[in-house]
Amino acid sequence: MARIALIPGDGIGPEVIREAERVLLVIADLGDLSLEWDRWALGADHFLETGSTITEGEFRRLEEDYDAILLGALGDPRVPGNQHARDILLGLRVRLDLFVNYRPCRVVRPEHSPLKAAEGSRMDLHIFRENTEGIYGGVGGSLKTGTPDEVAIQEDINTRKGVERILRAAFEFAEREGRRRITVVDKANAMPFAGGLWRRTLEAVRSDHPGLEVELMYVDAMVMDMVRRPDHHEVVVTSNLFGDILSDLAAALVGGLGLAPSANLHPGRHALFEPVHGSAPDLAGSDQANPMAAILCVALLLTHLGEWGPARAVRAAVEAAMEEGVVTPDLGGTGGTGEVGEWIAERVANLLEEAHG
Ligand code: NAD
Ligand code: IPM
Ligand code: MN
Repeated sequence: MARIALIPGDGIGPEVIREAERVLLVIADLGDLSLEWDRWALGADHFLETGSTITEGEFRRLEEDYDAILLGALGDPRVPGNQHARDILLGLRVRLDLFVNYRPCRVVRPEHSPLKAAEGSRMDLHIFRENTEGIYGGVGGSLKTGTPDEVAIQEDINTRKGVERILRAAFEFAEREGRRRITVVDKANAMPFAGGLWRRTLEAVRSDHPGLEVELMYVDAMVMDMVRRPDHHEVVVTSNLFGDILSDLAAALVGGLGLAPSANLHPGRHALFEPVHGSAPDLAGSDQANPMAAILCVALLLTHLGEWGPARAVRAAVEAAMEEGVVTPDLGGTGGTGEVGEWIAERVANLLEEAHG
């Protein structure tokens, strides 16, 4: 029995998680695995009602009582500064020590990409974003706040252990998946202390994987290269902030944030899955949000549980919806969130029934 905590969250979060749940229901009914899930009301409404973002006890239950967490999005214009999103999302990443943020992006239909270069190529990028330190470490402070002499300090934390474990996760993935090339992205020319640590650690890690070609890129050159040669890079490993930025770009290159899932992982210990997109307040309540990123999170979750057959069925169903034009307005279609979700869930059911003979 696998137990999952659903945190729909804010804005379009509940709308896209409803569709992910529809797919989970089909798998629980037809798949050979037993799945159970609970809904958690954490988010802006809960914070505005109770004054609490997430408690110590809630962290502990999410850690101890579940095999995985599926989260929609957090962020609400009624909460200035989005304290609740930082407490809950960044809190879970750090508390559960989910040091890998894995963000895959693949071109399925070249016409969904804004790039001409996507036409003849097949971008299939796997980003490994360090997820517990860097500039997200929360170290810093502010002096003379609100005065003309204000000073703000936001430190970039890089530990040998933190850098080594994300590099190893990416190298091991590349080797396991039979990839040839791995790209390490930093800004060592301007940030020599952090860059030095990353590059020294890289030397140790790459010597354990002599078969992989390693490319070192500065992040500014990398964004340009991703646009010019979208299929050149295969596996990318980088720091927390650079990974955040590169993953939105990667999503845009394959058709938008509505297509990009992510897995926050501490291999062997815990996992949290969430679309790369946010709560999209501009779309909330309009039945226009693309549910595919959230549904592809279900595929990542199933892979995490070792359920490769159902995971493949979910991916195939999403691709079939794209092939057949059952898509939301962000992909040029007229489908609603629920309509696209229902279509995909039904296709998953058909694929699983076929597989059962
Ligand atoms: P966003 O990802 O919410 O939206 C950016 C753009 O992409 C918007 O135009 C939006 O309409 C579009 N978009 C996003 N998801 C889409 C989908 N599923 N289908 C179609 N279009 C989609 O980013 P933002 O506007 O910068 O942030 C909004 C709020 O979300 C902020 O409070 C931010 O902090 C938060 N946020 C949360 C997460 C998370 O919970 N993981 C991630 C990113 C942003
Ligand atoms: C993401 C988001 C978060 C991040 C925000 C909401 C703090 O943009 O998951 O990509 O920066 O990590
Ligand atoms: Mn982001």
